[in-house]
Amino acid sequence: MIREKRIILKNSGIIDPRSIKEYIASGGYKALVKALSGTHEKVVEEVMSSGLRGRGGAGFPTGLKKQATAGKKAGAISYVVCNADEGEPGTFKDRVIMESNPHLIVEGMIIAAYGIGAEKGYIYIRGEYYDSIKKLQNAISQAYESGYLGSNILGSGFSFDLEIKPGAGSYLCGEELTLLESLEGKRGYPRIKPPFPAERGLWGKPTLVNNVETLANLPDIIENGSAWFRSSGTERTPGTKVFSISGDVKKPGCYEVEAGIMLNDLINDLACGTVNGQPWKAVLLGGAAGTFVPFSFSDLSLCYERLKERGATLGSGAVIVVGSDRKLIPLMQSILRFFRHESCGKCVPCRLGTTYIHERSLQFPEAGHDTRITLLEEIVNHAREMAKSSLCPLGQSPILPLETLQIHFTETIAKE
Ligand SMILES: Cc1cc2nc3c(=O)[nH]c(=O)nc-3n(C[C@H](O)[C@H](O)[C@H](O)COP(=O)(O)O)c2cc1C
Ligand code: SF4
Repeated sequence: MIREKRIILKNSGIIDPRSIKEYIASGGYKALVKALSGTHEKVVEEVMSSGLRGRGGAGFPTGLKKQATAGKKAGAISYVVCNADEGEPGTFKDRVIMESNPHLIVEGMIIAAYGIGAEKGYIYIRGEYYDSIKKLQNAISQAYESGYLGSNILGSGFSFDLEIKPGAGSYLCGEELTLLESLEGKRGYPRIKPPFPAERGLWGKPTLVNNVETLANLPDIIENGSAWFRSSGTERTPGTKVFSISGDVKKPGCYEVEAGIMLNDLINDLACGTVNGQPWKAVLLGGAAGTFVPFSFSDLSLCYERLKERGATLGSGAVIVVGSDRKLIPLMQSILRFFRHESCGKCVPCRLGTTYIHERSLQFPEAGHDTRITLLEEIVNHAREMAKSSLCPLGQSPILPLETLQIHFTETIAKE
């Protein structure tokens, strides 16, 4: 029987998220004090050797990004941005972290800022997350009153200011460069990469953009050391991961477990199995921009290295379970409607392509067995061309769920 291993969520549901006193009493801000007593480089080194990978979807090594940003020219202003947009369908773990322990994110951001020498930070948050915004705002005010934010933090000579910026509800604004455009007050259109934010980010300055869960890991890494962090998880995905499980399971929710847990253990031991008690039909791993896997992937170890070997993705940790009595065609249509709606319209292949593949998908219910197979083939081919010619990662996203549906579920879809 697999159990949760709570590091990020260890105080969630235990301390009052509105109280800095309770956060401090549970050991909060100790890591910041420790970080401030050492050098900036020491913080970057510790995060580097922890092997922490970004939890926002791409799994980029966090330490490397910190190092890249720390390598900015002397005197250049740099920023830390917390990506709290959480727009991926099926993902709700950042919200749980922010609502249950907002000081952990504030502390993680100050530590990150100290590491790279940034003086200003922003939390770019999904506008509908009213409760998260309220709790974070309260935590920021308390941190200012207690001397953890502002000028000359705890007499260290280091100064850092932090602000919240709510987004306006665009999925694409969760993409780091589009996020920065939005943060600068512009329309949420993507920028061309490179340059990456670490070289040229907010207002052209080096910027560290990290996901909520990534930043929430920093206090424990600094407090307990990188070797401790590496003692859980797998070699290339150290630490824990917070998964958001939804769909046809008895106990949907957020579960923090060691990276590398087996998919079926997550579903059966933590989410208490499927609603109808039958083996699941499919799991959509990583949200709308993720990959479908069949029941034969039950033994899949949820870490970057194993997932890659088997052609699956982890994304931000969304696990959407499809029960044996649910049809896949409506799910596919819903995903394609989502991309059509969220396409920003800047480039033709995605603007027209997302509309076209969604409309073609609406023809499935009327089509017979063989026509469904050719229809799926046509949609997949179209999505593949779209991925090659689109300007940003959104246009490259529909191919992942579609291709894995085709690989594993063509016959299921043809017969549904
Ligand atoms: C279309 C799109 C939407 C994204 N949405 C989010 C999001 O809501 N939250 C997030 O943390 N990362 C999101 N990302 C990933 C970010 O671009 C970026 O990789 C991440 O914020 C980096 O943080 P990390 O290294 O800590 O994961 C999105 C990416 C794409 C392409
Ligand atoms: S790929 Fe889609 S979302 Fe990205 S720029 Fe083109 S139209 Fe906009």
